[in-house]
Amino acid sequence: MRFSTVVSAALLGLVYASPLGVNSVDKRAATFTNPILWEDYPDLEVIRVGDVFYYTSSTFAFSPGAPILKSYDLVNWTPVTHSVPTLNFGSEYSLTNSTNRAYVKGIWASSLRYRESTDTFYWLGCIASSKSYLWTASNTGAKSNNGEVTNWNWKAAATIDKCYYDNGLLIDDDDTIYVAYGSTNIMVAQLNKDGTAEVKSQTVYQGSTYIEGSRMYKINGYYYIFVTKPAIDEWVLKSKSPWGPYEMKVLVENIKGPLDNAGAAHQGGIVSTKDGNWYYIAFLDSFPGGRIPVAAPITWSSDGWPLLVKDSTGAWGKTYPFPVNTTKTVPPPTGVDTFKSTSLSHEWEWNHNPDTSAYKLFGGASGGMQLSTATVTNDLYSARNTLTHRIIGPKSSGTFHLDITSLTDGDRAGAALFRDHSAYIGIHRENTTNRLVYVNNLSIDVVNGWKTNAIGTVAASLTLPSSTKQVWLRVKADITPAFNTATQRTTTFWYSLDGKTWTQLGGAFAMTNDWQFFTGFRYAVFNFATKALGGKVVMKSFEMEKWE
Ligand SMILES: *[C@@H]1O[C@H](CO)[C@@H](O)[C@H](O)[C@H]1NC(C)=O
Ligand SMILES: *[C@@H]1O[C@H](CO)[C@@H](O)[C@H](O)[C@H]1NC(C)=O
Ligand SMILES: *[C@@H]1O[C@H](CO)[C@@H](O)[C@H](O)[C@H]1NC(C)=O
Ligand SMILES: *[C@@H]1O[C@H](CO)[C@@H](O)[C@H](O)[C@H]1NC(C)=O
Repeated sequence: MRFSTVVSAALLGLVYASPLGVNSVDKRAATFTNPILWEDYPDLEVIRVGDVFYYTSSTFAFSPGAPILKSYDLVNWTPVTHSVPTLNFGSEYSLTNSTNRAYVKGIWASSLRYRESTDTFYWLGCIASSKSYLWTASNTGAKSNNGEVTNWNWKAAATIDKCYYDNGLLIDDDDTIYVAYGSTNIMVAQLNKDGTAEVKSQTVYQGSTYIEGSRMYKINGYYYIFVTKPAIDEWVLKSKSPWGPYEMKVLVENIKGPLDNAGAAHQGGIVSTKDGNWYYIAFLDSFPGGRIPVAAPITWSSDGWPLLVKDSTGAWGKTYPFPVNTTKTVPPPTGVDTFKSTSLSHEWEWNHNPDTSAYKLFGGASGGMQLSTATVTNDLYSARNTLTHRIIGPKSSGTFHLDITSLTDGDRAGAALFRDHSAYIGIHRENTTNRLVYVNNLSIDVVNGWKTNAIGTVAASLTLPSSTKQVWLRVKADITPAFNTATQRTTTFWYSLDGKTWTQLGGAFAMTNDWQFFTGFRYAVFNFATKALGGKVVMKSFEMEKWE
């Protein structure tokens, strides 16, 4: 991809200023900078198998769900699989009925563990406050390969008729599976040997304050349950038995996070390096960008309580010594995707389960991905097969190169800034004319149960020359945290007809900082029909790059 002067300057800024870029280039960096990954990966749990760290996260109604990221050093991360390939929780997760959608339902505060005896990864989540779903990946190769997985073969293993709310799994030394869960009163259940049914459960901590987000560990003979007092504190429960009684101490109390306007570091989980050093990975409410992970070392008191290593002002440090010296690397989150594989990379998630018959990855040398219209609607929030990508912060752009020759009358295709309040730049095909539009004022809203409030207003448009076969559409976002402030970060929308010269269309879109939708703003590509199915758009490439 080529750039205008303005964009090239921005790119230089990126290489110079990016802490992530520096870390991934120079493995011998003495320190790392928080956040460790400036992307929306909330409700995390981090485990280590051999040399490899794995990180699970919440995805609500995005599909596939529950991505797992991989790292060798706790600082550089890349998504490698999704524990829930298809949201098997009910028809509303497939967006086939515009009055029965799953926005803000689905996967949150779930848990990931690895059982060495059977070389199996377990993912457990409570869905819609009613049932818990277990997905497993067995014979992954991790056991014999120092943690490296050669085959993620996720299977729906069980549906348990009980909600393990905000759960944290523990596989004990004797292979017993426990799950800590609940809010205010924390409970522990013992599952059967495959984790597919409950053996027993009981309340282990009678709370008087609202706490949730359990993570369960056994360390040096003690059982620990880490819980959050949302969204500011992290508490630790400790006992000699999984069934209690548990003593409680506060690990962090409304600690100032390493970013301004991004809340306190809380929730998350702990993990140890091979050298036996422990880290707490929490997250910050960084809206409009979502919830992003930060890491800090912990030490242990002589009586087995974890203590956070703070900076000299008593805050969560902006930098700490690099956790692991390794030459192993993972790909950076920025870069170009030309869709040369026959499956999507795990950077991508659909809005609800997709219609798999309506998209195609060409693979091979030419690459590219075809999105056929999958729904006749005038509402982006009811259209199937909108494909989303997290935004890397604090400032980045997502550029979609589209071939628009096979759109048909009434189709709407383009590049969106997607959340409960959305905007897009795209093509509205009218008969054989391609109208390039900037549309804002699309919204769904917690107040009316996430029904659609507004399907969008064309705020700027122009007619493209009839010879136009391809367009480059760019969404340029600033997700610098502004949580709990009146400041609104803005995103602008740009197009190019040659991939070199860029023009902004419409004004700046002001982003909201509310947490209620939970997921932060994302880049998205879409193609839906307002008249009849049959139209297609081909995405030839996507590039995410930082700017200053
Ligand atoms: C769509 O969902 C609504 C609300 O749940 C339900 O009343 C209706 O019957 C559903 N329509 C179809 C075609 O399934
Ligand atoms: C990494 O190597 C550097 C330089 O030898 C050393 O100072 C540092 O303590 C090492 N870090 C870890 C986590 O081993
Ligand atoms: C599309 O073409 C039909 C038939 O020529 C015409 O009636 C209609 O107004 C056109 N629609 C638009 C949006 O231009
Ligand atoms: C946004 O959409 C709503 C619902 O269609 C409409 O009432 C309102 O006038 C629109 N606002 C703007 C600024 O376009």
